[in-house]
Amino acid sequence: MSIIRDPALAPSGHRKIDWVRNFMPALSQIEARFEKEQPFAGLRVAVSVHLEAKTANLALVVKAGGADVYLTGSNPLSTQDDVAAAVAARGVNVFAWHGSTPEEYEAHLVETLKCHPHVIIDDGGDLVNLLAGKCAQYADCLMGGCEETTTGILRLKAREREGTLPCPMMAVNDAKAKHYYDNKYGTGQSVWDAIMHMTNLVVAGKTVVVAGYGWCGAGVALRAAGMGADVIVTEIDPFKALDATMNGYRVMTMADAAPLGDVFVTVTGCKDVITPAHFAAMKPNALLSNAGHFDCEVNVKWLEDNAVDKWEQREGITGYKLADGKVLNVLAEGRLVNLAGGNGHPAEIMDMSFSVQALAAEWVAKHKGELERKLYDIPAEIDDQIGWAKLAALGLTIDKLTPEQEEYINSSNA
Ligand SMILES: NC(=O)c1ccc[n+]([C@@H]2O[C@H](COP(=O)([O-])OP(=O)(O)OC[C@H]3O[C@@H](n4cnc5c(N)ncnc54)[C@H](O)[C@@H]3O)[C@@H](O)[C@H]2O)c1
Repeated sequence: MSIIRDPALAPSGHRKIDWVRNFMPALSQIEARFEKEQPFAGLRVAVSVHLEAKTANLALVVKAGGADVYLTGSNPLSTQDDVAAAVAARGVNVFAWHGSTPEEYEAHLVETLKCHPHVIIDDGGDLVNLLAGKCAQYADCLMGGCEETTTGILRLKAREREGTLPCPMMAVNDAKAKHYYDNKYGTGQSVWDAIMHMTNLVVAGKTVVVAGYGWCGAGVALRAAGMGADVIVTEIDPFKALDATMNGYRVMTMADAAPLGDVFVTVTGCKDVITPAHFAAMKPNALLSNAGHFDCEVNVKWLEDNAVDKWEQREGITGYKLADGKVLNVLAEGRLVNLAGGNGHPAEIMDMSFSVQALAAEWVAKHKGELERKLYDIPAEIDDQIGWAKLAALGLTIDKLTPEQEEYINSSNA
């Protein structure tokens, strides 16, 4: 059973899924093994991840491993209705549509959990929050789960401290095969892909303000600079700020950066990064976007409440006219711009992230009954396996330590 916008949209969704499957070789290898070994036979897996083609592929791989899969999105704007229709036609139970209201969004999450999942795959912590609260009655079969993103991991760590984790959870984001590539190069490329497509404007020569120079922000700044932008970084961590400086970017406070920026990208995982005081200082026609997980980094609510006029400038771009006549442009309602206004990360990148998801879910299933309600690191052998598989898929070989080298670097006499 599925709750989707329109099953007739499936043909273009099938094309999108088939396209990404060509570029996800590590996940395809896992799928082939899953088909033989059936690690999820008899299990129900609930997935809440941005519902576009790469995620559909992950759902199909888990299904190939024998699971009944129940799939929803992880943001009201990132679900693609054609992909939802196509993956439903391929036997996944889908509960999501693009542009859901907050009430519909939550209702879709709840529908997904009604399967009483054995394993969950979460992105940002919404499934966990429900299972620890108003959907606790659906947690009776729960063996464990996996969390995709930095913000979700922070929420899980808070729950671990409070003792309110509903099940053991795997920190997928923290695997090397995930954040080294997805957060940096995936976000770096897909944020600019979305901003350029949405605005149809040039990046070269613009002043770009990147708030947060963590894994994602470093990628966003790198790609902006590569296209000829003048990049300013804002930070709260002295070492990240120094790192940005040594990569050639100007570092300053948001208060100082606000009047200089043509384009703003927040990617901190924090809240209230761009506030009314900053709006007041900005240039007319500044472009405001967010790539952090939640839509609380740019205070769009203040603009909604205080703008004297608002209208759609281009698809997904809202122009807000302030009392002084200045117009500011918000992309994708201040939600993750690369997913709400674009197609998300490139398939080759999600090949690695979703390989971690698939193998971490298998690890949870294999260790049924042995795990505690805590946050687990991804075992090094899973991480390494994906690294080697990806290198092989790219046709790359690297040197191996000789026994003498191995002894040398592990010796106290080295
Ligand atoms: N858009 C995407 O596709 C995508 C992909 C991965 C992660 N994310 C999300 O992006 C966010 C950042 O993830 P990350 O992996 O880069 O995390 P990170 O912890 O590596 O980096 C966050 C950085 O922001 C800085 N920061 C925090 N509060 C700040 C503030 N008020 N002003 C300026 N800087 C501040 C921190 O010091 C840190 O350096 C998270 O919400 C994460 O879930 C989005």
